[in-house]
Amino acid sequence: MRAAILRWYGAPPEPGDFDEPQAGDGEEVLDVLAAGLNPVDIRIASGTFYGGSPPLPSVAGREGVGRTADGELVYFDAPAPPYGSFAERAPVVRDSEIPLPAEIDPALAVALGIAGLAAWLALDWRAQLREGERVLVLGASGVVGQIAVQGARLLGAARVVAAARSADGRERAQALGADAAVDLAAEHDDLVEALREASGEDGFDVVVDPLWGEPAAAALDACRARGRLVQLGESAGSHSTLGSASIRGKLLAVLGHTNFMAPPEVKRAAYQRMVEQAAAGELKVDVERVPLEDVAEAWQRQQHSPHHKLVVVP
Ligand SMILES: NC(=O)c1ccc[n+]([C@@H]2O[C@H](COP(=O)([O-])OP(=O)(O)OC[C@H]3O[C@@H](n4cnc5c(N)ncnc54)[C@H](OP(=O)(O)O)[C@@H]3O)[C@@H](O)[C@H]2O)c1
Repeated sequence: MRAAILRWYGAPPEPGDFDEPQAGDGEEVLDVLAAGLNPVDIRIASGTFYGGSPPLPSVAGREGVGRTADGELVYFDAPAPPYGSFAERAPVVRDSEIPLPAEIDPALAVALGIAGLAAWLALDWRAQLREGERVLVLGASGVVGQIAVQGARLLGAARVVAAARSADGRERAQALGADAAVDLAAEHDDLVEALREASGEDGFDVVVDPLWGEPAAAALDACRARGRLVQLGESAGSHSTLGSASIRGKLLAVLGHTNFMAPPEVKRAAYQRMVEQAAAGELKVDVERVPLEDVAEAWQRQQHSPHHKLVVVP
């Protein structure tokens, strides 16, 4: 079958022919219709991911939407190595599949997977966002950030503030429902002041943080008492220097999040809720379909944040 094949750590996968998958115990082989390209694919392929490295050669990609032999549409993730989702077919554990409505666009459905879950679970599961709270979304120009802005609104936030480096990103976040947008380029004290002011009160209850680095340090200083910052990525830096006073004095909590650690039933419920909201037109993600043969070029573009979801179509 045709597949995007990883042959060396640190290099993009290349299209080629790969062995047909065979279904193991409890598995079935799906026809892949759409596969999401995510920052984590690039980290895994670098050979330095904290969760481990794939065998070589192997098929790239962790998540996809596929069709079963019965014609059912399902979302899946984590096909067993050496298989992956960037291929015409993938072996998937039946119990891990999430059924989808027949009319949903597979590319949209896959965008709600790894990226959507990180945003939604950060708010709903990790931060336990309550109605009427104030939410700050860092990196709001990225795909996770765009979904978090909309998710915060759908989950009942009273005010949603988007923070991003680019003017285009801030504009897009406001078009998606953010009440205000803040430029992340400012120095620490100015950024804290701008964020607090944008909160409309004395700071934020919840921060969704795909960035870490300096933006996270400023966001913590812009939290109000008992604020929760959910740390889910390091697009701005792998380390951050945090002031003690804010965390101690305001009883703040820094909560880590990775989709890998969320219980399957929690992921399933969140995913199905997002699919319903998307089908109702209340949750939007811009997607670009990329033919499997162009995967290496898409891989390069993902390294510089395309600001919409790249979806590989085998
Ligand atoms: N924990 C999990 O389970 C999980 C799941 C999904 C994603 N993630 C992580 O979440 C992060 C975002 O993922 P994504 O899919 O949204 O990626 P994406 O669409 O590529 O967006 C990345 C964002 O990071 C911003 N950015 C990059 N460098 C920055 C810097 N130095 N300062 C400020 N902003 C910076 C970009 O802003 P510009 O507009 O300025 O380029 C862009 O908005 C990644 O680190 C990813 O690994 C984690």
